[in-house]
Amino acid sequence: MRVPLLDLRGQYAAQRDAIGEAIDGVLDSQHFIMGPEVAAFESEMAEFLGDDVHAIGCASGSDALLLAMMALDIGPGDEVIVPVYSFFATASCVTRVGATPVWVDVEPDTGNIDTDDVARKLSPRTKAIIPVHLFGRSANLAGLPDGPVIIEDAAQSLGATFAGVQSAAWAQLGCLSFFPSKNLGGFGDGGMVTCKDPAMARRLDGLRRHGAPVKYAHDEVGLNSRLDALQAAILRVRLRAVAGWIEARRANAQQYRALFADAQIAEHVALPPEDDGPYWHTYNQFNLRARDRDALRSHLAARDIGTAIYYPRPLHLQKCFAHLGAKPGDCPVAEAMCQDALAIPVFPGMTVDQQEYVVDAIRSFYLAQ
Ligand SMILES: Cc1ncc(COP(=O)(O)O)c(C=O)c1O
Repeated sequence: MRVPLLDLRGQYAAQRDAIGEAIDGVLDSQHFIMGPEVAAFESEMAEFLGDDVHAIGCASGSDALLLAMMALDIGPGDEVIVPVYSFFATASCVTRVGATPVWVDVEPDTGNIDTDDVARKLSPRTKAIIPVHLFGRSANLAGLPDGPVIIEDAAQSLGATFAGVQSAAWAQLGCLSFFPSKNLGGFGDGGMVTCKDPAMARRLDGLRRHGAPVKYAHDEVGLNSRLDALQAAILRVRLRAVAGWIEARRANAQQYRALFADAQIAEHVALPPEDDGPYWHTYNQFNLRARDRDALRSHLAARDIGTAIYYPRPLHLQKCFAHLGAKPGDCPVAEAMCQDALAIPVFPGMTVDQQEYVVDAIRSFYLAQ
């Protein structure tokens, strides 16, 4: 048997005709930049997220974070609190505008921002905090302090809720990614900034068009960061199915819990937390904490089981941020997770046989020790 980390061919097959029609529609119109498909997708996303949300498409989740920084006028002298256990873009957006990331550690079970550490790192210069909803489960948004602007990095968590509110719709600003592996993935790069304030939405709309809401009238210096009309047309079709895919991920997670309970290897492998309190998980990743992780990963690779390490190195210890002076031991939980975290396949369409094969392979690794 072969179990890739991610196999979305089934998703595509189920929508092949509708996606083909959507692409043909754009090709026939020859309207590739902005236009009706982008506008329709933005309004459908706003509806999906909640009444008071404005949704502004852009070229990637990374650009969404950068646009959020720009729209808040964050710059030199400002501090932005960033969890160190995340994808690079959560921090690079801060340094790209000349501000300083302030590193915080994460919770050991979820990998999400540790709100106690946030409280310790607040300063009069803290302009914003970027909680990341890692692996598709919301960070503890209610535990964040009042004052700094909250920017939800919801790249991995479209469809998750916190206290019933959609990811990217809780805070003043949210950032989404439509990278193909995300809960709502496109067929290439794409992203979106969300916000509540109509004036900020207008500013973001200008910033993604070189700061020119009206063509050739540049109010400020922005980016060229638009969501392609082709991607928008594809994403509109995919949005219609996303709730079902998330349910399938959740069903797979439940199945894994039963299989792991039977396998009786809890002293070797910790599973991601279940839904509790305000949290409703989408399992963009099913991330284990595994003893002897690297050897386990090789054992699984030898059995054609795909896995991934999110993340092998925390942000504060990346070479490009060395000048900020962080050192090993500064964020011990995140550093430990970098040593033992292992994501296993959980994609919609995965079969129970495949899940059994994965758990059997993990069990055989520990039993052989
Ligand atoms: C937490 C997080 N933030 C930001 C991004 C950036 O998104 P993109 O790849 O669309 O630029 C990603 C995606 O890789 C991510 O996982």
